[in-house]
Amino acid sequence: MKISVIGTGYVGLVTGTCLAETGNEVVCVDIDEDKVNRMRSGEVPIYEPHLDVLFERNIEAKRLTFTTSLEEGLAHGAIIFLALPTPEGEDGSADLSYVLGVAEQIGKTIKEYKVIVDKSTVPVGTAEKVRQVIGLHANCDFDVVSNPEFLREGFAVDDFLKPERIIIGSSSTRATALMEKLYKPFVRSGNPILIMDEKSAELTKYAANAFLATKITFMNEIANYCEKVGADVDKVRIGMGTDSRIGKRFLFPGIGYGGSCFPKDVKALHKSGSEENYEFKILDAVINVNSRQKKALLPKINSFFSHNLKGKTFAIWGLAFKPETDDIREAPALDIIEELLKSGAQIQAFDPEAMDNVTKQYGDQITLVKSMYDALQEADALVICTEWSIFRTPDFSRIKEALNTPVLFDGRNLYDTSDVEKEGFSYFSIGRKDIIA
Ligand code: UDX
Repeated sequence: MKISVIGTGYVGLVTGTCLAETGNEVVCVDIDEDKVNRMRSGEVPIYEPHLDVLFERNIEAKRLTFTTSLEEGLAHGAIIFLALPTPEGEDGSADLSYVLGVAEQIGKTIKEYKVIVDKSTVPVGTAEKVRQVIGLHANCDFDVVSNPEFLREGFAVDDFLKPERIIIGSSSTRATALMEKLYKPFVRSGNPILIMDEKSAELTKYAANAFLATKITFMNEIANYCEKVGADVDKVRIGMGTDSRIGKRFLFPGIGYGGSCFPKDVKALHKSGSEENYEFKILDAVINVNSRQKKALLPKINSFFSHNLKGKTFAIWGLAFKPETDDIREAPALDIIEELLKSGAQIQAFDPEAMDNVTKQYGDQITLVKSMYDALQEADALVICTEWSIFRTPDFSRIKEALNTPVLFDGRNLYDTSDVEKEGFSYFSIGRKDIIA
């Protein structure tokens, strides 16, 4: 099939590449000329495991091409995916100006039947708005469907190629049939393609993300309470998670959720509620608890150093909001770094992928080093913010030798407290007993 994807951010790029992989002819459109040129020469603009292999293969086979011309893109596809940014507006609601701007262009340009697919996470009612805007200008038939994307950064290719479910919000049998044909190769395992109305599809995406953010946040509150009463959150987590009604996943406590989706989507759903005079009290709490949680290590750090961080140097392991990505949007590491800098401390940080993005944001305010052990030199403490695999089995004697004080602040509960205790460290984690060496 002929497919166009408008917008080559995370979702657009993965969608375009994976649809090319199943034999479709895909044209990706982006206004950023430099980015388009780099993609044409095979450069993947984001770090995402496995994407580079698929990218190269499909560019070579000429199934995946790039253009800056929206007109060219719109002429090509029978199905046109909108994978445009929906940034958080000033009031927390999703800003639809990119989506509706392109919708207007679509209306003015298309000359034959097209299916327009909302792939971005958009508020309930957006498909209807897109349909209205296109309809104001179009002289031919078209359909608008909602097809939210559930991929996770770091697992995006796998999630796209083997989805647990595909959601299609459509009120047109013609469009539904085309979408089912497109997605059939991805659900051979028997996973469902769920057809529903557009509004329910749009809300499913927000509800799923908000639920997961709530699950994590609930566990973070239990972890904080564990610390008060001397319980161990690892035990509680496993005890709870083995109940299949609860499930083991997304119960890991830590220094809060970040990224490009959860924070933005929870706020947007909360805001959409208030626009309908509905107060999402749970989401209000989730937003507040998560921003507090991002700073959960700071009282421990302050108390260990008697509230005097001036002139202290902190080694930071992990800057990305989670492992296997270079994305630092809403990363808890940044909240911690900002607070430490404010207290007059210095930062020596290492992340396997995210350091370029951090340099763009912080310039020379913090020192970025080439290896996890380099970060420790002459540092007063180690703070772990992201659970990259490489941090899971470190050489503890090397850490001890390099640090001025043998103290670890672990925001992701990477180690068994007893192991770290045996190594002679003071160890502070989330929801477990503090170890003072
Ligand atoms: C999320 C959704 O999972 C995905 O379906 C949607 O399409 C986009 O948003 P993503 O943001 O890539 O994906 O990351 P995810 O792996 O879901 O993690 C989100 C955040 O939650 C991270 O900051 C992570 O560290 C945190 N998290 C996750 C926890 O703190 N504890 C957990 O148990 C799981």
